[in-house]
Amino acid sequence: MDSRHVVDTFLDFFTSRGHRRVTGTTLLPPPGDPVLFTTSGMHPLTPYLEGRPHPLGDRLVNVQRCLRTTDLDEVGDPTHLTVFEMLGSWSLGSYDGRQSLRWGHELLCDGFGVDPGLLHVTVFGGDGQVGPDTRSIDTWTSLGVPVELTGSENWWSNGPTGPCGPDSEVFVWTGDGPPTGTPTTDDRWMEVWNHVMMRYRRGSDGSLSPLSESTVDTGMGLERLLMVLQGKLSVFETDLLSGWVLPWDLPDPRPVVDHLRSGVVVIGDGVTPSNTGRGYVLRRLLRRTLTTLWREDPSHTLSDLPEPLVRGTLTHFGQTSDRVFEVLRDEERRFRSLMTRGRSLVSRYRGPLTEDDLRYLHETHGIPRDLVEVLRTS
Ligand code: SER
Repeated sequence: MDSRHVVDTFLDFFTSRGHRRVTGTTLLPPPGDPVLFTTSGMHPLTPYLEGRPHPLGDRLVNVQRCLRTTDLDEVGDPTHLTVFEMLGSWSLGSYDGRQSLRWGHELLCDGFGVDPGLLHVTVFGGDGQVGPDTRSIDTWTSLGVPVELTGSENWWSNGPTGPCGPDSEVFVWTGDGPPTGTPTTDDRWMEVWNHVMMRYRRGSDGSLSPLSESTVDTGMGLERLLMVLQGKLSVFETDLLSGWVLPWDLPDPRPVVDHLRSGVVVIGDGVTPSNTGRGYVLRRLLRRTLTTLWREDPSHTLSDLPEPLVRGTLTHFGQTSDRVFEVLRDEERRFRSLMTRGRSLVSRYRGPLTEDDLRYLHETHGIPRDLVEVLRTS
């Protein structure tokens, strides 16, 4: 099943069950939103999850591109990406979590052909404030799926205030041989789908007020699902990313693939590098990439990035920017001149650098810590 077929199967499953497709999938949240980038499919739907009627009705489905920087250090492992796509479904007061879980099971097993014996789920087991999510436990048990109870890992929120609630995460076994252990004891259980029962809104005083029992938000990572369905060992080997073959010989190309592909999408949504906000996230992605490339060979240049990779990525995400190479080249030029200045500054230090030295170089001269290391060893 290629990625297009997987996305279509997901959308068809939910549209044939009365869900309307939400379009508009940019990474940039609406003006006034304090978050820099859209981090999940539900993000743009927050007001509707809190009770405002949605113009398309009370059952929704979409494919949302998302950006998460919290996992930046994990990028390059088999399952984390900075920009990824989330397949999402929502009930805005139409049906409760039990229905969502049953449909989730049906789609995974009957629609996508996942072996039901390779599934495991986690469910909120309760804390001092809210009891265990017995409905989800009962639903999964009746479907024959093993359940592990956890605490805060199965409580979903998008920040200190706003909609939140117990969630149930669906894991697929990715190991060789029969499944062993549970999601929290064996990391070969890979999370693919999260169903959030958004039963509450948390106020600024920490209190919980109830939302509708039938507010459900689900999100499934497309690339991870593809990994399972295509029998690959990492998201980088799925048909969405396997075409990203870099022109440079690198010991581990995966973080560079992630950062460049993510950078292209961020630029495609209209962001340019800067020292604050979204532009800083983009700058970090590109400078981490350049630092890695130059560690191998200082003559590497982003101008050598094959154009079809950039064009293919923009097309996949429905973007039309013609500024990607210009932005990449401009940032590379700036970073190269910073490197030149940095090399002469760093060469003045003898012996190990102190925390104060590193802070001074970063805050006053814009030379990040990892670059200092490169400058001292190159
Ligand atoms: N909001 C949930 C998540 O991000 C499900 O969409 O996992």
